[in-house]
Amino acid sequence: MNLSSFKSGDELILFLVALLLLVFAIIILFVILGIFRTLKHIEAKQKGQIAEEFSFNSWWKSLTGAVPLEKEEVILLDHNYDGIKELDNHLPPWWKYLFYATIVFSIFYMLDYHVWSTSPLQIDEYEQEVSKAQKEIEEFQAKNANSIDETNVKILTKDAKVVANGKEIFIGKCVACHGALGEGGVGPNLTDEYWIHGGSINEVFKTIKNGVPEKGMISWKATLKPNEIQDVSNYILSIAGTNPPNAKEPQGEKTGAVAADSTASK
Ligand code: HEC
Repeated sequence: MNLSSFKSGDELILFLVALLLLVFAIIILFVILGIFRTLKHIEAKQKGQIAEEFSFNSWWKSLTGAVPLEKEEVILLDHNYDGIKELDNHLPPWWKYLFYATIVFSIFYMLDYHVWSTSPLQIDEYEQEVSKAQKEIEEFQAKNANSIDETNVKILTKDAKVVANGKEIFIGKCVACHGALGEGGVGPNLTDEYWIHGGSINEVFKTIKNGVPEKGMISWKATLKPNEIQDVSNYILSIAGTNPPNAKEPQGEKTGAVAADSTASK
């Protein structure tokens, strides 16, 4: 483990607190073991015996609780199945201690997650991660918004957010010449199948970006950001074939199928 693997100071602090708790738990364990040993000594003294001194062997024996071979008749059950005899061994103490430890753990777990809510539940954790990723996506998109041009503009007519944003731009900047519903006015009808400069997303983007200044269509690249041009281009493609009233007569060539088809297939 290395320190840089902690994503934030909070994580580092949590890790240190956990470490501290672990050390604390180990100390408590030793204190409890000490108390047991003292009690054992006292008990032995009362019986006039000397308690076994602590050694790895005695400690291991106390953990496994194994009954030595020569004392097995004490725990031998009295059935005898064709010569097969059964010993009444207890559960090994290490196993029982582990079980008690899980109970203690569960108390802290419950307090942590369900009473004090200091740690997030799975669903909260999931939502936190999703919103974090969402933020990262937005940052990424904001950073890359300026790299959109007519060669890599995307068809996003199914993306309600993009279309709504495009519509807002259209209403704010384009209706004066293209009509509230794109039916046309000073500028051409944007809902029919006829296009002067082409009806693919790339061509529409290019027309809006560079404009056709000599024909009265402004270049928007100074006013709109590339992603905004992408949004409004998608809005225009999304209103293809809507047949608004008072539509202007067709201008240009009938190439609408290009736009309509590419929209439908993506
Ligand atoms: C001042 C009037 C005016 C405004 C405002 C205007 N346009 Fe235009 N637009 C025109 C004219 C005029 C044309 C036709 C140019 C030509 O004949 O080549 C045109 C053409 C277009 C075309 C190409 C249509 C085709 O048939 O190829 C698109 C796409 C377009 N405009 C989108 C927009 C968008 C999006 C906005 C708003 C951001 C906008 N326009 C704002 C006047 C305008």
